[in-house]
Amino acid sequence: MNILLLGSGGRECAIATSLVASPHCDELFVAPGNGGTAGIAHNVALDAEDGQAVTRFAQEHDCELVVIGPEAPLVAGVADVVHAAGIDCFGPGAAGARVEGSKDFSKRLMVKYDLPTAAYGTFTDADSALAYLNEHGAPIVVKADGLAAGKGVTVAQTKEEAEEAIVECFDGRFGAAGATVVIEEMLTGPECSLLAFTDGQTVLPMAPAQDHKRAYEGDTGPNTGGMGVYSPVPIVTDDEHEQMVDIMNRAVAGMRAEGIDYRGVLYGGFMLTPQGPKLLEFNARFGDPETQVILPRLKTDLVEVMLATAEKRLDEVSLDWRDDWAVSVVLASEGYPLSYKKGFEITGIDEAEKLDGVHVYHAGTKLDGDKVLTNGGRVLNVTALGESFEAARDLAYRACDLIDWEGKTLRRDIGARALKGRSAWD
Ligand code: AMP
Ligand code: GLY
Repeated sequence: MNILLLGSGGRECAIATSLVASPHCDELFVAPGNGGTAGIAHNVALDAEDGQAVTRFAQEHDCELVVIGPEAPLVAGVADVVHAAGIDCFGPGAAGARVEGSKDFSKRLMVKYDLPTAAYGTFTDADSALAYLNEHGAPIVVKADGLAAGKGVTVAQTKEEAEEAIVECFDGRFGAAGATVVIEEMLTGPECSLLAFTDGQTVLPMAPAQDHKRAYEGDTGPNTGGMGVYSPVPIVTDDEHEQMVDIMNRAVAGMRAEGIDYRGVLYGGFMLTPQGPKLLEFNARFGDPETQVILPRLKTDLVEVMLATAEKRLDEVSLDWRDDWAVSVVLASEGYPLSYKKGFEITGIDEAEKLDGVHVYHAGTKLDGDKVLTNGGRVLNVTALGESFEAARDLAYRACDLIDWEGKTLRRDIGARALKGRSAWD
């Protein structure tokens, strides 16, 4: 069958790699795609947030499945339009995507269905938000309600920082996304993501993954889209894992009770607190870069899993995983996440991919004839599989060292904290 995949990041390169490996996939179209998807599929120029345009393209090219990677088209309701045209779609409609599109909605769902999370308040004006801050004090967390490209959260150590974040939100820094503000208790502990395939009824959890959000080594510097990630997560106990799976099951049951028809990936972002795992957020999609360590471990045919999800027969599927550990390191442009230059030629990708167990997923790249050029802040995700966590990490860094361009930067400490054990978070 032909498939249309929406998105352009490392996540979409990893999804595309798994889709084209399936015997069910004839032609794969990626809109808009990147330099990596250009090599394995057809990149197409299409407004991924325009449901009519996406549906028309799928019809004209006989696509029987549409897969939505990023949050913006999900929140815009593209899945609803595709689905209404009778085409299978992997990714929830607008009602389900609200778990990511509105932090207030997601918190209300958590509270209503008794899912552990931080105490919070929601505000639509600065005065009442500042009054809540005065009452609770710092440290405290200020969040723009809507989508803010991962930049809408301030973990404020002082009252002044929190005040500034509140005022900025209501002054329109995030546009309409900041017109409502969620303020919540600061939680502490290691973070861990648990993603699950769900058709709204059956919930199939994937292995936990942990990403490194901060730009610089030692988990310092500004937040980024993620500088590296690993899966599974060695510091998660069996008991915590069970609790997270139970929370995900109850979240899906809660959405079902709300009349939400959810078909896709539900992503639970957890903090492993001394009182047990608590939810920081839900995302309505695969994580980026979590996908780049999850999908290379999945042995089950991804097209079959996605079709079963879209057709609400996920109970027919069981997931089969490789035993290997996976570590992925992000190669970024010098200056990311602040300002950086693009357009440098990248060398060494082929050599890196010749290493057994290495996958190089493209994020911000584009092709220029035979050359691969940098075209974004996060440029490549270098994933390695290994029999142990250390083996996977060492192989990932060996592969990273084979790749070069002017201004290549990376964190050298991906996974280092986890290798020290749980006490590294104390
Ligand atoms: P979110 O987009 O809600 O996941 O927030 C982005 C990041 O902010 C998370 O990955 C955490 O590192 C941090 N964060 C969010 N909420 C909290 C909280 N209640 N306590 C501590 N850190 C938080
Ligand atoms: N890695 C975090 C996210 O995908 O939102």
